[in-house]
Amino acid sequence: VHPVRTHHLRQAKERGERITMLTAYDAMVAQIFDQVGTDVLLVGDSLSNVVLGRPDTLAVTLDEMIHHARAVVAATRRALVVTDLPFGSYEASPEQAMASAVRLIKESGTRAVKLEGGRRVAAQVELLTSSGIPVMGHLGFTPQSEHAFGGKRVQGRGPEAADALCDDAMALQEAGVFAVVIEMVPASLAQRVTEILDVPTIGIGAGPYCDGQVLVWQDMAGLGDWSPRFAKRYADLRGALDGAVRRYTDEVRRGTFPGPEHSFAE
Ligand code: KIV
Ligand code: NA
Repeated sequence: VHPVRTHHLRQAKERGERITMLTAYDAMVAQIFDQVGTDVLLVGDSLSNVVLGRPDTLAVTLDEMIHHARAVVAATRRALVVTDLPFGSYEASPEQAMASAVRLIKESGTRAVKLEGGRRVAAQVELLTSSGIPVMGHLGFTPQSEHAFGGKRVQGRGPEAADALCDDAMALQEAGVFAVVIEMVPASLAQRVTEILDVPTIGIGAGPYCDGQVLVWQDMAGLGDWSPRFAKRYADLRGALDGAVRRYTDEVRRGTFPGPEHSFAE
């Protein structure tokens, strides 16, 4: 298999082929998505909420990101694995970002990193990319800033906010990002950003005009008790798992599992 590389994503944009991306946090799920042909697997800092049960993404540590990224990398043959730099690991300076990205890459094997923000992190992106580290940007609703935003709110509404987001996108491209995630902005603004950038945009809650789409996999597969409005539930894994554990529990209690076919003779 030919692994997906950053220049393939740029080629996909040029050819008008949409890029597929999902989060993954463990080996078994990563293997399934990789074998289906998902282009990019994101070890997102959504790990914090979705897997570790914390109230926001801010609480996850670099060590925890490394731990899960290593599992995803181990199971992935084709997809490009991108891992989030967590809150507190890159904002202070380009040197801090560099030290965190180097640890993430050396200790997990991830090929690319993602960080949140526009012009405020352009110097960080510049140092990483000039050092040979592929960087994905993330604009719009950036969850590490959710308390500053005052909650999970659509960003980029109104002409000034829209212009500011376009300026951030251009700054990221000039600093060398290979792609930009755009989260929870009006579809028309995501379309405008997609048109002005040469690098691909990957949307989440950003309408149909982006060069690719990303979802948290548990939202996509219906595992959570709730999914955001912008996510479509392509399966009912919650219902399937609920049914399975009910039958298992019932059969253990009734003594009908394990049967002879699950037991060993002498
Ligand atoms: O952490 C995450 O899951 C993300 C996306 C869904 C883009 O950053
Ligand atoms: Na994230």
